[in-house]
Amino acid sequence: MKFVRFIMKNAALASAPKHIEHFSKFSPSPLSMKQFIDFGSINACEKTSFVFLRQELPVRLSNIMKEINLLPDKLLTTPSVQMVQRWYSQSLMEILHFLDKNPDDHRVLAEFVDALVTIRNRHNDVVPTMAQGVIEYKEVFPQDVVTNQNIQYFLDRFYMSRISIRMLINQHTLVFDGTTNPVHPNTIGSIDPQCNVGDVVQDAFLSAKMLCDQYYLHSPDLVLQEMNHKTNSHPISIVYVPSHLYHMLFELFKNAMRATIETHENRNNLPPIKVMVSLGGEDMSIKVRQSLKCRAATFPVAGFGYGLPISRLYAKYFQGDLHVYSMEGFGTDAVIYLKALSTDSIERLPVYNKTALKNYKMCQEADDWCVPSKEPLDLRKYKVA
Ligand SMILES: Nc1ncnc2c1ncn2[C@@H]1O[C@H](COP(=O)(O)OP(=O)(O)OP(=O)(O)O)[C@@H](O)[C@H]1O
Ligand SMILES: [Mg+2]
Repeated sequence: MKFVRFIMKNAALASAPKHIEHFSKFSPSPLSMKQFIDFGSINACEKTSFVFLRQELPVRLSNIMKEINLLPDKLLTTPSVQMVQRWYSQSLMEILHFLDKNPDDHRVLAEFVDALVTIRNRHNDVVPTMAQGVIEYKEVFPQDVVTNQNIQYFLDRFYMSRISIRMLINQHTLVFDGTTNPVHPNTIGSIDPQCNVGDVVQDAFLSAKMLCDQYYLHSPDLVLQEMNHKTNSHPISIVYVPSHLYHMLFELFKNAMRATIETHENRNNLPPIKVMVSLGGEDMSIKVRQSLKCRAATFPVAGFGYGLPISRLYAKYFQGDLHVYSMEGFGTDAVIYLKALSTDSIERLPVYNKTALKNYKMCQEADDWCVPSKEPLDLRKYKVA
């Protein structure tokens, strides 16, 4: 029996490329925060969500699978990337299994929720596995600027696609599993229509502080300020996914704490990390400021870490952004910008099209700016006799 299942699974996977070809011809349909909320509250209809997802998930999966195929061959053939590709093909086929199923049948709907949970679990380790593939590739093959640019371009789009697919899966499974969130009964799936920003700041700060205390035996304090330019009332709240906001803040706090500790010789007297939350008519911004005191540190704000790039993708996912401003010798400000209105918070999704294809093929051969010479120019030879 096991053997028959094995044969059938492999036969199904073999037909995946044909389906990827078909579904990648459709563009993903971005949803707004408001649509997510309506989908999960007043109009909550499992049948509608099922019919939407059995088309939309294959479209999003196939669009990004076409881009995986554009990676350099030697990266594609690493065991890690092969594994990620197998996960994607398998999940695609498991969703396609529901295409001809009857949406009025309750068993089908229940089976679909189970399938989504299995898929979500299967993809838990996609980020570290993909990163491992890139490391393996970069270790073995000499690097060139163009390939590195392509890989970076791909990773941003791939991780963004993954965030969006998980968002759809989470909404469906959380809204239709028949239970309410015991801690936050008013949430709609993973969205809190009144996400208290200050609370999330405090939560993320405490988690980072715990880590910092464990590692360095000291940690800076938090000074939190809120400015509500809209209604002058506190606390500030927006319609948002608290887990996304928590993720971004946790990463910023870890970075800020590490920089504070490593630039202060006297660890008993650390300056606090100052957070300003500001709500305007269009934007809700959060500034995380950490200052230096004793000696100037020159941290390059571009490491090989994933903390900042992934946090930036979370911010961009609902049309926000994340910027880091570093002043050598003074400190660093990291600012998260989010949309204040749920109608403006619309998913930002990659689409596989001619422009994307062109971006992978584009070859910026030589840099078109002069490289300054280390040797000062000897102007004597220009001297007119
Ligand atoms: N607040 C900050 N002050 C000074 N330097 C910073 C700050 N934030 C980030 N950096 C620098 O930017 C680099 C990249 O940060 P990022 O969070 O992306 O990766 P990381 O912290 O090195 O690793 P990871 O977050 O994946 O554990 C850091 O290694 C650090 O050098
Ligand atoms: Mg970090």
